[in-house]
Amino acid sequence: MAPITSTIEQIGAALTTAHATYGKSNPKSSQTHKESIGTLPGGTTRNVVHFEPFPVILASGQGSYLKDLDGHKYLDLCGEYSAGMFGHSHPVITKAMHAAIDSGFALGGVNQFEGRLAQLLCSRFSSIDKIRFSNSGTEANLTALALVKAYTKRETVIVFKGGYHGGLATFGKDGKVTANSMNVPHKFIIAPYNDIKALEEMVEEHKDDLACIFLELMQGSSGCLPADIEFVKATRAKATEAGAVLMFDEVMTSRMSTGGLQSFLGVYPDMTTLGKYFGGGGQNFGAFGGRNEIMSIIEPGHPGGAYHSGTYNNNVTTMAAGVAVLEDVWTKDVASQLYEFGEWLQNELRRVAAGTILQVTGVGSLMTLHFSTQTIRSAADVQGSVAELRELLFFDMLRRGFFLAQRGMISLMTVTSKAELQTFVEAVQQFLEERRDLVT
Ligand SMILES: Cc1ncc(COP(=O)(O)O)c(C=O)c1O
Repeated sequence: MAPITSTIEQIGAALTTAHATYGKSNPKSSQTHKESIGTLPGGTTRNVVHFEPFPVILASGQGSYLKDLDGHKYLDLCGEYSAGMFGHSHPVITKAMHAAIDSGFALGGVNQFEGRLAQLLCSRFSSIDKIRFSNSGTEANLTALALVKAYTKRETVIVFKGGYHGGLATFGKDGKVTANSMNVPHKFIIAPYNDIKALEEMVEEHKDDLACIFLELMQGSSGCLPADIEFVKATRAKATEAGAVLMFDEVMTSRMSTGGLQSFLGVYPDMTTLGKYFGGGGQNFGAFGGRNEIMSIIEPGHPGGAYHSGTYNNNVTTMAAGVAVLEDVWTKDVASQLYEFGEWLQNELRRVAAGTILQVTGVGSLMTLHFSTQTIRSAADVQGSVAELRELLFFDMLRRGFFLAQRGMISLMTVTSKAELQTFVEAVQQFLEERRDLVT
């Protein structure tokens, strides 16, 4: 791979110009941001969507497009960080939600949708006998962690460097739980990702107290870094050997097939956590489920059992939207087409990136663009990449009408056509040509 010939100063100057252009063409976003920052830390209630000099304020979405407050239209490649997988205002999902709203949305008891949603999910995920719902992926993960500790009567949880299981269980790019971390205080042991030998040693050291090995099959937030199949198999074998629970966080990766990335890989955990699009793609949703003997300890009346509840766990709009998704929208054909489009896009981007330091990592419809002279395989590699170039790409793409996550992540939606994706490939190609001095 060609060495980076540009200096950080040149990239910095290009970025200053990009910020100025962005600032000029987004006065309403700027104004709204200014009005919010006095009362909302950073002007948003969600750090990930913040960027400098101020975040674009999104006003609406329709199909595969977004519009901002200043009237710009973007092809949405962010897909609500993987949650908005069915595009904006999908008619089937919208209809199901309207019907649920019309029949009353604060019922205060068991409703007609939750059991159906559970049946549909259990029928698709062969490793899930029983499932419960929550309001977010974070909440699903935290509840599931507490549950497996209660089940095993053990404390230690092995997680992986670069893992992201929600804002309260995140294991930074360098694997350090820093002093200002908001993580829940479980007994986490942080192992290197994709390192079988280190995993074996850590399991051996902690086997008598090991409650759980908790794994993302592809680290999404850290840069779409796939787990090696042999590593995934090793987590299965080691968890079984130690009498620990193997739990996959499939909040992001479940989209790789209708049975999740686990069924694609053919390695099955004892517990799985889900979230994002299963609640309709935009509604608050999380879920955790798995083997009957683990899940049964939260059954009402279970002797010495644990208690799981939450006012909005079964909120009718999410449950109804989820049923519509699984019955009518997220079919096997749709899932394989989305995966195929994703692989196609990754290959096309790699094609136009040849001879530059742009790299694409990911699986199927989830991918991240990195600028680095070294091959990106781990979260530490991502940290060593040129973040300023990623930022420059982000602003150049915004200017050309493409909205991706600022960290370079692309999360495809089922409503986006190949022709639309082709326009993005061409835009990236133009970016690389125009910025040739900076990216080779
Ligand atoms: C793998 C993974 N787990 C958990 C979460 C947290 O989900 P939520 O944002 O719904 O709390 C995320 C969010 O991006 C995620 O990617």
